[in-house]
Amino acid sequence: MLWPAFGLEPAPYGTDSLDALAARLTSRSSEQGVAVLDIGRPLTADALVQLGWRMGTVLAERDPAVTSFCENEYVLNLRSTEDAGDFELQPFSPRELFAHTEASHRPSGQRPTWIVLQCLTANEDDASAQTVAIAMDAVARCLSAVQLETLRSTQRVGSSHPVVECDAPVFALRDPSVTDDRFTSDSGKEAADAAVLAAMKAVYQTRLVRRIPWRPGVIAAIDNTKVFHARTAGEPHGSRHLQRVRVRRVG
Ligand SMILES: [Fe+2]
Repeated sequence: MLWPAFGLEPAPYGTDSLDALAARLTSRSSEQGVAVLDIGRPLTADALVQLGWRMGTVLAERDPAVTSFCENEYVLNLRSTEDAGDFELQPFSPRELFAHTEASHRPSGQRPTWIVLQCLTANEDDASAQTVAIAMDAVARCLSAVQLETLRSTQRVGSSHPVVECDAPVFALRDPSVTDDRFTSDSGKEAADAAVLAAMKAVYQTRLVRRIPWRPGVIAAIDNTKVFHARTAGEPHGSRHLQRVRVRRVG
């Protein structure tokens, strides 16, 4: 199944100015949840980092498990390898990556605002390893007022931040069917589990799933406060090669 690219056809864009490119990615992603531009050819890894610093604070890749995939302190090379089964190595697995908020286990001030990805090489098969985005506001609209309110007081056991924050709901959630996450709420554990389950059902049932059509030179900014993201299954050692930086909004 090929997800629709509705609203995400890459717009042609020149790269004479990283300032202008950063401004375009920021404004477009804040309107649409995801900004996708075709800049003709990929940026160098250093330029990708400089672009990130023009959007906010670029977050260093500190996890020792991913060091061998890093281009420098900030740029992660995303290429599928064999499935190692490790949680930390999920981005490199050919298996499906279930819908999630990036760094959902961290409080909002410590999560990236944007995941910025650029494509160096794409898979020949468009239906393989698709990056998809699911609008958080569409998910929230599928929930009842009681469910949404429960999620505002629901926390993953071991964390101190709620699953939903802010008036325009911002979710911090990773599909619990693939994690050991347990939840609790002011209304009790059962209410928390039921509300999380309803949210995950809404994530998978909403029709507002949009695919980023990768080709070399396409760059995308995924707003982690507006959309969940996921990746469909691909091939081990497929030809798709993306580079990623994570950026936190300043202020
Ligand atoms: Fe992710």
